[in-house]
Amino acid sequence: MPASEVMDIRDLKPVFTQEQIATRVRELASEIDGVYGDEPLVVVCVLKGAAIFFSDLIRNLHNKNLELDFVRLSSYGRESTSSKHVIFNKDVEIDICDKHVLIVEDIVDSGHSMCFLLGQFAARRVRSLRLATLVDKGERREMDVALDFVGFTLKKGFIVGYGLDYDERYRSLPGIYEITPE
Ligand code: IMP
Ligand code: MG
Repeated sequence: MPASEVMDIRDLKPVFTQEQIATRVRELASEIDGVYGDEPLVVVCVLKGAAIFFSDLIRNLHNKNLELDFVRLSSYGRESTSSKHVIFNKDVEIDICDKHVLIVEDIVDSGHSMCFLLGQFAARRVRSLRLATLVDKGERREMDVALDFVGFTLKKGFIVGYGLDYDERYRSLPGIYEITPE
């Protein structure tokens, strides 16, 4: 399928429904509340894919001592090579030194993106650093990344919806679907 063509939603295979996601996001929020309580916390959304997960997650947290910030990353280099190079397109604006920081990501796949971000933030001498990911896709993991809060695990497949895209499409779908690009 050419990237410019949008598949009919009926041709996408449902993987996680809107209801399953909502339930899991509430569970994750309560796990996160259990760790931080009302401690001041900087929650960092990894754009663009995590935007919808992030907005649902933060509204389910009881902790109102939150600061919100955003990063955007780009990666270069061939897929599935450990030489993959990640850079900031946009960094956080808050000074995170000495703060509790929670990164919110959509999917950890090879692990290169989160390996980069965790390394960058750790170097800024944060008070603590944790990672929440909606999906842990283990099959192509190349970098060892500690995942503190995981919504769903997925063996393989390329998924779209609930913020996740294929060539910038499908982000606004309320559920998550598998797509098989040809
Ligand atoms: P990593 O550096 O390989 O872990 O890259 C993870 C990034 O690739 C995620 O933040 C997503 O933006 C993107 N990605 C990986 N797998 C998928 C998928 O199945 N659907 C949509 N985006 C994906
Ligand atoms: Mg992402």
